Amino acid sequence: MTLDTPRNRISISDLAGFKKRGEKWAMLTSYEQMTAEIFDQAQIPVLLVGDSAGNNFLGEENTIPVTVDELIPLARAVVRATSRAMVVADLPFGSYETGPDAALETGIRFFKEAKAHAVKLEGGEKVVPQIKRLIAAGIPVMGHLGLTPQSVHALGGFKVQGRGDDGARIMNDAKVLQAAGIFALVLELVPEELATQISNELSIPVIGIGAGAGCDAQVLVWTDLMGITKNPPKLAKAYRQLRNEMLAAAQEFAAEVSAGQFPGPEHTFH
Ligand code: KIV
Repeated sequence: MTLDTPRNRISISDLAGFKKRGEKWAMLTSYEQMTAEIFDQAQIPVLLVGDSAGNNFLGEENTIPVTVDELIPLARAVVRATSRAMVVADLPFGSYETGPDAALETGIRFFKEAKAHAVKLEGGEKVVPQIKRLIAAGIPVMGHLGLTPQSVHALGGFKVQGRGDDGARIMNDAKVLQAAGIFALVLELVPEELATQISNELSIPVIGIGAGAGCDAQVLVWTDLMGITKNPPKLAKAYRQLRNEMLAAAQEFAAEVSAGQFPGPEHTFH
């Protein structure tokens, strides 16, 4: 199975195969039906219903206020709109920190109510009991290290993590998470050299965001990719400028309505 073979859903074994063969792949966030349909058609193998929905969909300042009840309908829409992508749902802040029982309860909700295919949670050694409980119940887990946005206040802001001696801590956490059974690891905002070393030393896929070109895969928030985000982060590349396009379309529509030019005869019924 290669990256562009049309087929059933991408599975964790497919991702392991990509790593083994050195095939790099892309992951995108998605929070609703339309982008999910488009990204699935583009054969993006993994879609993340990230808690970045907080600041890219739900109007929040960051990911922290996002709740399970808010994220489940978004994940359900993405699963329903796709036939090929693996859909990974973020466990929001507050839904797993208290222990393995809470993590399992949340994971079960994402599996039963949204039909997600895996979950992602943030943190190193301290979340190993949660990871083990989820995996024991049959729920694949993706890890997330480096800049973990749910801990932004504890980290003192959106800063690069793992510079200097701190790199050893992230490397250790990465190995501990792999040993706990995660199937893939997101590394956010870490120096390229560290991310490359972790990617080389782990047997599972490492997905970078602001982590340089040495990772096995790359993830972007879809609104950053499309040039919709108002203040995009430095780590993102905008492949289109849809914010300008959408603004222009809305202004043209309003102007045509004011001028009595819309609807035209082709949009009118008799
Ligand atoms: O929530 C999210 O979008 C994420 C990605 C940035 C990896 O966690």
